[in-house]
Order: sequence, then C-alpha cells, then structure tokens
Amino acid sequence: MINKIHFKSKNLTSNAGGSTLPTFPERFFWGIATAAYQIEGSPDADGKGKSIWDTYAHIPGKMKNGDTGDVAIDHYRRYKDDVTVMREMGVKAYRFSISWPRIFPNGVGEPNPKGVDFYSRLVDELLQAGIEPFGTLYHWDLPQALQDKGGWQSRDTAQAFADYASLIAGQLGDRVKHFFTLNELQNFVDMGHRGTVIKVQGKDVRIELAPGLQLSTAQVNQVSHHAVLAHGLAVQAMRATRPGLLLGPADVLFTGVPIIDTPANVRAAEIATRTYNERFLDVMLTGRYSDAYLQAAGPDSPKFTEADLSAIGSPLDFVGVNIYIPKSYVEASEDAKGFREVPTSLTHPKMGSPWHSFIPEVLYWGPRLMNSLWKPKAIYITENGCAANDVLTPEGRVLDTDRVMYLRAVMSNLHRAISEGVPVKGNFIWSAFDNLEWTGGFGTRFGLVHIDFKTQKRTPKLSAAWFKEASRRNGIV
Ligand code: NOJ
Repeated sequence: MINKIHFKSKNLTSNAGGSTLPTFPERFFWGIATAAYQIEGSPDADGKGKSIWDTYAHIPGKMKNGDTGDVAIDHYRRYKDDVTVMREMGVKAYRFSISWPRIFPNGVGEPNPKGVDFYSRLVDELLQAGIEPFGTLYHWDLPQALQDKGGWQSRDTAQAFADYASLIAGQLGDRVKHFFTLNELQNFVDMGHRGTVIKVQGKDVRIELAPGLQLSTAQVNQVSHHAVLAHGLAVQAMRATRPGLLLGPADVLFTGVPIIDTPANVRAAEIATRTYNERFLDVMLTGRYSDAYLQAAGPDSPKFTEADLSAIGSPLDFVGVNIYIPKSYVEASEDAKGFREVPTSLTHPKMGSPWHSFIPEVLYWGPRLMNSLWKPKAIYITENGCAANDVLTPEGRVLDTDRVMYLRAVMSNLHRAISEGVPVKGNFIWSAFDNLEWTGGFGTRFGLVHIDFKTQKRTPKLSAAWFKEASRRNGIV
C-alpha cells in the first residue's frame, strides 16, 4: 500500500512483467525539432532571399567537406512525406523554424506571399497528422540584406525582427499557438561574432558560425543586447497582433552541474548558472542586467535604455532551453566568484560530437536550477539529442544503440525534475532527420531518421522505434 502511494506520487506506473514505468504528466509533449537551413534546401525557390548561411557556407574552407544547405534533405519539396514519417513515429509536437528570408527576402519591406504559403501548408499538414506545431522565428539564418546593413551589430535588426514576428503572428498564429523567438542566443552571438573556444580532450577548439566575424568584447556585448532586444520587441509585437499566443525564447542553458549533490555545491551551481547566462536568460527573465555583469564588463558594457530593459523583460508564457551539456561541473568555493569549475577527465564518456561529454544529469539540474533561479511559468526543453556514427546494416536498419541509451538517460533525469515539481511541459529531441550540422556538415548525424543524402531515402532508426514506444506510453521505455 505504501509503495503504491509512493509510486503514484512519483509518476510511476506498473509495466508488464512487474517492473515500473516512469510516466510523464498527461499532455506532456513528445516532440522533435529541426531548423530551416539544416533541412529545407531550395535556397532560391519561390522568391526566397539569401541568408547569411547561404553566403557563409559557400566560402571555401568554412564547411566540412564543402557541404552546404543548397539541397540538404530537400524538405522544402518533400515536407508532406516528412510529416507522414513523423506521424508514424508517434511525434506529438514538431518544432520547426521559419526562414526569415523566405518571408522577407530583403529582411524588411514587402513580405513574400509564397514564402508564407510554404509554412502555412506545412502547418496544415501537421495539424491534419495530429502533430502540434511549435514555430521558431530565428534559427540563425539572418537575411543577408540585413547583414549587409550591419546585421546584429545594428539596433535596426531588432526592430526588423519584431516586424517579421508580427507578420508571422498574423499569418500563422490562427493555427500555431506556441512560438519560440530566437534559438540559442548565446551561441549565435558568440560563435558568429568572435568564435567560441571549447576544450576537447584537453585541447582548445574554436567553433564558428555565420557570419564568422571577429569583433571586440564591447561589440559582442552590443550584439548580445540587440539579440535580447529583438526577443523582447518580438514578444510585444506578437502580443499586439494576436493576443493569446504562447511565447518564449529557445535559448541554450549554460548550466553549472554540482559534481556532488551537497547544499554548498548546489548553491555554487546556482551562482554559476546565473553567471553563465547573465547576458541572455538572466536579463530576459529579470528585465535587468546584473550588477556583477555590468561591473565586470565595465567600459565594454552594452549601451541600453530603461525602455529596452522593460521590453526585454516582457512577461513570458514559458522558457524554452536547449540542453545537451553543462557548461561545467562545479563545486563550492570561497573565492569571489562563488564557484569553482571541475573539468571532465580525458576518459570521460562522449557522444558522437567532439564537444559532447555524456552528462545526462544536466537534464535534471538544468530545469531544477532554472526553476529555483527564475521561477518560469513553464519550461520546454527545446532540444536535446546526440550525434552518432550511424550506418545502415545489410538489412537496411540503423541500430543506434548509443542514441537509445542517451535518450533513456536524459529522459530519466528530466522525469526526476518533473517529479520534484519543476514545470517542464514537453521535450523536443534534436533531430527528426539527419541534417546539415552547420560547419560540421552532413557527416555528423543527429536524426532519429536516417537520410541517405544521395537518394534522399528516409529510414527510421532504432531510436525512432524507441521514441514511438516512449511517446505511446508517455514513459521511459
Ligand atoms: C543546437 C542547434 O540549435 C542546432 O541547430 C544544432 O544542430 C544542434 N545544437 C546540435 O549541435
């Protein structure tokens, strides 16, 4: 009897064979995610303008094996088949991104009706398949025309983004209820405007994204400010156009994970997590830059007004965060920073990308720390997933046992956070299909569905079968 009550309160249900199946709350969204440039192809179709990725990917030496998004998985033309594949996989929610230069080929001015029509048809197809559409307005493909006028260094880009967001609210908001503003602000700002150096097996590796600039700290901080301002202005504009939409960012959460769960280390992890996200989530969720940030940045601080801050801090319906890895394990420290980083050892297990240490407990600590730091109304995990060395067997299967292990581990940790009362409403696995992993090219496969890039054949992997069963039973299988 006691066990029964305990199991119920922890969201566990009995499984065939006597074991228990950890189950998720009712209406939990079992989702899957993609982004326009990584899958669509058709870069010039139906009046689309160039994006910074169309330009950047064609600069010799920037992309692994010279890969580009010119064709990608040809989703622009095959979207109906792709929706069918997702329906058959038991996908309940699909997070896709809208390509800004399909809608505004010049970034501003006259919208392109054919671009809008593509996403309108996609949304109809999803709804017919019983899949809830979640739109992302910016997944890094800035119109090149805006880059030519200064890109994110220009404050005008934030206003142009709000105008584009408002148009989308008007055109798609009758059917799409949830929108994410910008994807991974910290990564596109830093990797795109100065490059981010990460440690891989003890060595420094620099990661770059379009437009591939090398700016000063002051300039990068101003770019950060324009990105959060774009988020805030978009939220205001969308609410004005269509009240009732559910809105939030899809940022990347830089988490400090306590290396050992002690009260002092958890406190250190909170301090670390706030510090790591001070230019982004912290200002979006508090409406102010922390004193610690402004003091440390000194003369490199961004220029901003009080009106900017109140737009940036606009109330949100939820916060979306991509979580793959922590920024670092941390422990308590007496020094001024309030935490000390604990580097992973050289033999720490890894998933398929060089940066991807296997630390599944970040899916517990990330949401838990967000909840204690900022108390958002709701949380979506807008991405987690892993790359794997997926190969077709002679029978035509892809047995990605490592991805199944990874997904089970991260979902168990997320389940733990939810069981403790953290309001996580859904999870979107990256990614539905193998796709262009930015400068990493097509060789780094993240999909639950394998793509043969020569024939465009779609083959659901073992992980897709896992997803189907987990989604059907709303639990960890
Ligand atoms: C986050 C990005 O949003 C997505 O575009 C990328 O492919 C995945 N991380 C995997 O690196």
